[in-house]
Amino acid sequence: MNNQKLIARRSKTLGPTYQNFFDQPLHLVRGAGTAVWDADGREYLDCYNNVASVGHCHRHVVQALCNQAATLNTHTRYLHAGVVELGEKLVEGLPGEIEVCIFTCTGSEANDLAVQIARQVTGQQGVIVSEASYHGVSELTRRLSTDSYPSADRPEWLAVIEPPNLYRGPYRRDDPEAGRKYLELARQELDRLEQRGYRPAAIMIDLIWDSNGPLIAPKDYLQGLCSEVRKRGGLVIADEVQSGYCRSGRNWWASDNYGITPDILTCGKPMGGGHPLALMSTTRAIIKDYSRQHHYFNTFGGNPVSAAVGKAVIEVIENEDLLQNVNRTGAYLEAGLRQLASRHESIGDVQGCGLFWGLDMVADPATRDPLTRQQMTRLGSLLVEQGVVTGTSGRYGQVLKLRPPLPFSKNDADRALAAIDAALPQLQL
Ligand SMILES: Cc1ncc(COP(=O)(O)O)c(C=O)c1O
Repeated sequence: MNNQKLIARRSKTLGPTYQNFFDQPLHLVRGAGTAVWDADGREYLDCYNNVASVGHCHRHVVQALCNQAATLNTHTRYLHAGVVELGEKLVEGLPGEIEVCIFTCTGSEANDLAVQIARQVTGQQGVIVSEASYHGVSELTRRLSTDSYPSADRPEWLAVIEPPNLYRGPYRRDDPEAGRKYLELARQELDRLEQRGYRPAAIMIDLIWDSNGPLIAPKDYLQGLCSEVRKRGGLVIADEVQSGYCRSGRNWWASDNYGITPDILTCGKPMGGGHPLALMSTTRAIIKDYSRQHHYFNTFGGNPVSAAVGKAVIEVIENEDLLQNVNRTGAYLEAGLRQLASRHESIGDVQGCGLFWGLDMVADPATRDPLTRQQMTRLGSLLVEQGVVTGTSGRYGQVLKLRPPLPFSKNDADRALAAIDAALPQLQL
């Protein structure tokens, strides 16, 4: 099918802020499980989409959506059992003392609210994020997204710390003191924040540093960082939009993998299996303090249809034992990726966990010069030609990102690995 007319209509109507992946934009019209189909009927393996967390168009989720949409949809100002049941289900598994849920439609809204709450209850204004972070699109969360605007425009209340990149960062995997040294860098930034007159209200951490990698942090670093922020009166906000919902493997939440107990945890993308549903969750003490002066109402957040969908997604994860699948297939995929890295010089590093993997692509393994964005677009397009959909991330856009729906199978992994193996030699470096 010729997509040129649709591309022209799209750019005329939607404007230039909308972008397409790949040299030739994909026109997807259908999905099922880990497969998607384009308008010509060609099937692709989806190695990228975490929003369709339990697989595209899962029957149980679609059924729950249709049933509730055909029954009633209102909002959280009326009593409805659905939203309460979703909250109760989530609270069973949330880390530490987190036991109160506020539902929103997007991760941006959840993070925005999290910072508003942190500022209110601590009485402090500073916020700490990582270099090249991404936390959303609202006025506030855009400021927290240091990958989205020039560093000269950073507000004074923002402290930006070095993410623990053990392949590219200042301290690397061969340094047993790396965690302590990254922590020391963070301390220095916190001191500078205070010298500018701002004590921290919160640190917001994407626990897989998606826009940098993904990255795996030394445990002592993360635990030390949380203690340091708390010592200065700030809260810990775990942004688990990317890392949560079994994505990181071993546990439902990456916070538990790192042994940290956040004060606030946010999530979004995977919760609705494609439907807009997101979460700001916190402790009873924090929400009690906040609600002395504030109410929160989000017209669509936590509506009965969203709640039914959210519950259905959790049921699928439990009924199909998708956490075990992430552990099993994730380990298999990792082994295959490391095998590929041993044969392809352009794979500088393999980093990730669960079903979230990144290949840090280099022009030269000695210098670790990253592949250009143009070369990465080419690589993505070569993979599409092989019938495999991937993404990119990283500070230079140099990481080939594999973050498929959670039911990803070993056969799917084999297909992805074979496609990468075939595509890399065609990439003219
Ligand atoms: C780590 C992280 N936090 C927050 C967001 C914002 O979520 P949303 O796009 O639902 O507003 C994203 C989106 O990509 C994200 O990756």
